[in-house]
Amino acid sequence: MKLLSIHWPVRVAGRLSCGMVAASLLLGLALVPGARAASAPIVLTGADRRPATSLNGEWGSIVDPYFSGLFSFHHEEKKNGWFLNQKAKPGDPFPTEYNFVTAPKLKVPGDWNTQHELLLYYEGPVWYERDFTYQPKPKTHIFLHVGAANYRSWFWVNGQKVCEHEGGFTAINCDVTQAVHAGANFVVAAVDNTRLEDGVPGLETDWWNYGGLTREVSLIEVPETFIDQYDLHLMRGAGSVIEGWVHVMGGQPGEKVEVEIPELGAKQSATTGSDGRAVLHFNVQGLERWSPDRPKLYKVGLHAGQDSIDELMGFRTVETRGTEILLNGKPIFLRGVSVHAEAPYRTGRAYSNKDAEILLGWAKELGCNYVRLAHYPHDETMLRAADRMGILVWSENPVYWALEFDNPKVLAKAEQQLDEEINTSRNHAAIILWSMANETPNNAARTHFIETLASRARSMDPTRLITAALLVRAQGNTKIVDDPLGQALDVIGVNEYIGWYEGHPESADTTQWQIEYQKPLIVSEFGGGAKAGLHGSENERWTEEYQANIYRHQLPMLNKIPQLRGMSPWALMDFRSPNRPLAGIQDEFNRKGLISEQGQKKQAFYVLQKAYKDGTIGKAN
Ligand code: GCU
Repeated sequence: MKLLSIHWPVRVAGRLSCGMVAASLLLGLALVPGARAASAPIVLTGADRRPATSLNGEWGSIVDPYFSGLFSFHHEEKKNGWFLNQKAKPGDPFPTEYNFVTAPKLKVPGDWNTQHELLLYYEGPVWYERDFTYQPKPKTHIFLHVGAANYRSWFWVNGQKVCEHEGGFTAINCDVTQAVHAGANFVVAAVDNTRLEDGVPGLETDWWNYGGLTREVSLIEVPETFIDQYDLHLMRGAGSVIEGWVHVMGGQPGEKVEVEIPELGAKQSATTGSDGRAVLHFNVQGLERWSPDRPKLYKVGLHAGQDSIDELMGFRTVETRGTEILLNGKPIFLRGVSVHAEAPYRTGRAYSNKDAEILLGWAKELGCNYVRLAHYPHDETMLRAADRMGILVWSENPVYWALEFDNPKVLAKAEQQLDEEINTSRNHAAIILWSMANETPNNAARTHFIETLASRARSMDPTRLITAALLVRAQGNTKIVDDPLGQALDVIGVNEYIGWYEGHPESADTTQWQIEYQKPLIVSEFGGGAKAGLHGSENERWTEEYQANIYRHQLPMLNKIPQLRGMSPWALMDFRSPNRPLAGIQDEFNRKGLISEQGQKKQAFYVLQKAYKDGTIGKAN
């Protein structure tokens, strides 16, 4: 088989960026005759509610900065790449120069950066391998489920390419039915966290670029005809009508779908149309709506043919009325905080239920009924915990700072990640806001790009509110919110740092706000840095006293904004970022947390907690 010669990208800044190598070679790979084209991964809604065989644990791992496990450096794609997981045998014509068995191990799930000090700063490809045994069953599909792999990833089973994916924070479900066989099998993954100029996010972020298989990996079996996606929600208004749809894959039009909610004595069936969707709309008696005060969850059974999913769902409505946000028809004020998926104590990418319960437990302790999960989709354990604990959620697509907004390929990547986020997580009662972006530059290309995303999100999910965190401009001591993107949003988010990046904490006392939109406003970020345990005068930066002083002046200012309907100060916990090197103070952590990554609450935590608990902020309800 003649392999196409692969044209290497021009050298970039004196070094060949692995990302560009991989991207150009994947193009070649896709064009190579006979190379099995990888199937596109699919979205499995509620994958975490399905029985699964876990592949978590220790995987053999090889750090491969030149991606030489996939490509030779003589312009050829390797036929015997490391994805074959070959074992050296006496008399082999060529040396086998890798061995996953003797290679160092990496824990899955988990970023590689915090598993080995030599990998803390590593950006590039890493290979993973593990064996598994399997007994194929008739009329059964098997998916390789990966909760997330940051940033690009490629997967092989028994040496056969099964899929590839770009995006570091959404689930990947590869159909591996054709690749597995009875008995011993193996899976190989290559994950490359190289940041790309045309990535989503792009080259610049203020968080650590944690690479690897950062969330759970498992095998999920489904019948030949199975439910891949669904959406069930309470219809807006005062009644108790549940509406939505269930999509069936692999079946014919006319497949019967059944939804039951035993506690409500509800059982409803419908049949799929030519699009594979069964549409449902049914009244239920005695439904208790989900809310932060009473986060009621119901067991919901979804059935289609041989397939069943046992979901756990809350039912509520959210909408706006003028400048109010209504939850279940009543105005609500979002007392929140911003949260990165940084693991408390151990640091690194958060992935476990324990991580989620600690972080959201701190938010509850702070007096929050809401969190802004920044700046990318968090994992399902975090969203399940929010459902259970009654914490409303702002979920965000990682369109962060400056992207190539005029590049259609980048828009397609942002749309793909938005689709994966919404179609995976659309049944969480806790999620009320889909955020399209954070702090993007106000120009025509950006506005068109994000307006496109907003209308896509709205058409995919008309039951939630669309928002974004906008930058604000200043005229003297007036803050002006007039970013044209605001027209496309239901709720306006704004980030401001009076007292930290501009002026002094006292500057807030004389700041006026001019909001050009008669819409609900959330101040999605404010705050300042402090090293836990560092004390001094309230005019001395980096002391807890200074940070607390920022909050003492911010809160009364924000309270004067007539359409303020929420806030999510930056941030709940200190988090790792390469932009924050100040030795002895930051040590590569962003110190704006109200709590240190070791769980030390700073004075500002108590300033905000008091304001939330005694209702001096917003219309507490
Ligand atoms: C920005 C950005 C955050 C960042 C923060 C900061 O507003 O949205 O991601 O961490 O400012 O400067 O600390």
